[in-house]
Amino acid sequence: MRAHEAGALHADISNQGPAWLRTPADVNALVPALWPRSVTRGADGAVAVAGLSVRDIAAEFGTPVYVLDEADLRSRCRDFRAAFPTEDVFYAGKAFLCRAVVRMIAEEGLHLDVCTGGELATALSAGMPPERIGFHGNNKSVAELGRALDAGVGRIIVDSFTEIDRLTELARERGVRPRVLVRVTVGVEAHTHEFIATAHEDQKFGFSLAGGAAANAAFKILDEDVLELRGLHSHIGSQIFDASGFEVSARRVLALQAQIRDARGVELPELDLGGGFGIAYTTQDDPATPQDLAKRLRKIVDSECAAENLAVPHLSIEPGRAIVGPAVFTLYEVGTVKDLDGIRTYVSVDGGMSDNIRTALYDASYSATLASRASTAQPLLARVVGKHCESGDIVVKDEFLPADVQPGDLVAVPGTGAYCRSMASNYNHVPRPPVVAVRDGHARLIVRRETEEDLLALDVG
Ligand SMILES: Cc1ncc(COP(=O)(O)O)c(C=O)c1O
Repeated sequence: MRAHEAGALHADISNQGPAWLRTPADVNALVPALWPRSVTRGADGAVAVAGLSVRDIAAEFGTPVYVLDEADLRSRCRDFRAAFPTEDVFYAGKAFLCRAVVRMIAEEGLHLDVCTGGELATALSAGMPPERIGFHGNNKSVAELGRALDAGVGRIIVDSFTEIDRLTELARERGVRPRVLVRVTVGVEAHTHEFIATAHEDQKFGFSLAGGAAANAAFKILDEDVLELRGLHSHIGSQIFDASGFEVSARRVLALQAQIRDARGVELPELDLGGGFGIAYTTQDDPATPQDLAKRLRKIVDSECAAENLAVPHLSIEPGRAIVGPAVFTLYEVGTVKDLDGIRTYVSVDGGMSDNIRTALYDASYSATLASRASTAQPLLARVVGKHCESGDIVVKDEFLPADVQPGDLVAVPGTGAYCRSMASNYNHVPRPPVVAVRDGHARLIVRRETEEDLLALDVG
């Protein structure tokens, strides 16, 4: 991206859009891979989810609103369960967590990954069986670790020597022997279409493999014997489409497993390869199915174990985005349309970077459609922006919308289930939107909209 004095997002002043974005033959068409599975365009032209029109959803719950297709979310859980029947699938709660979603994923037989006391509290309050919870995080406090032990969480992924000491002391005090994995920094960093397998030891997560810290952490845990070392853990990145990053990471982490066996005579029974499996935000993304992923990951692990003469450990994975991301779209109302003659058309909606920070934070790409009606107008390349006092407040950088898009229309942005509501803020004192779950034609509020009273509730004086 080119530099620009007003910020990087301003640098792209082309109104042509990216090379991969094609003018659609039918601007009303929905690309199925981008939308929750029950989404269709109804006879009246409006988008419907599980048979319910977005116009009805907007009328009942207002906008902006995150709309969750419950059957879609559940079917993605089932797809992962079916593809990984003998492995454990941990839903990474950081992608999006609320009590209703905890119950859905528990009912669908998944485990749950949490990484803070708040996520743990949400999981426990929704009745997630504690033995199916894994606790992550590079700076878990003594209080958080104590709470996890008292609750009986199934495993703790330790991330530092300080944490090993803390956990050892807490476990001794309580007379328990928690199960732990060691988070290993394998020197692989993978994002979207590329991965890098040399640097990236320089990060806050985990124990370095190359520097020997990971082996020392495992030895320390084995020597003290207060914690039960179950295995190693590696998570290499996000929105990954290319299995080669997992191949390198599995090779490295299994080599460590062999080193531990050779040094201590212990074969660790578990291995967690983390999450990061990519989803389709736009037509340029082509994610693997869970079946494909399972086949590839098993093949990698089997061949690396054979090479190291190791028994194949019990595998687990931690998908977040791939389960909840495609199950949700955000519904906005258009407030203004500004045509900067010959430069660009800006379509302003009633939310923005407070409900979807990913575009500004990661330069993420999204797509959008006019959702409240079909249109016979020509496709117009537009930029969907929010209502915040920030010119980088962009929701969708480039998308073809009908040229007659106007104030009062509803625009829907798919693929917003992961890292949107969970990273939402109150910037500009904008209340965070609700989450509505739709199933069999019925909508149910699962997270209510914040109110101005909520915003003022923390002010003292
Ligand atoms: C340790 C760990 N596991 C799993 C995930 C989930 O990643 P994703 O939602 O991309 O699948 C993350 C995301 O940051 C993570 O840090």
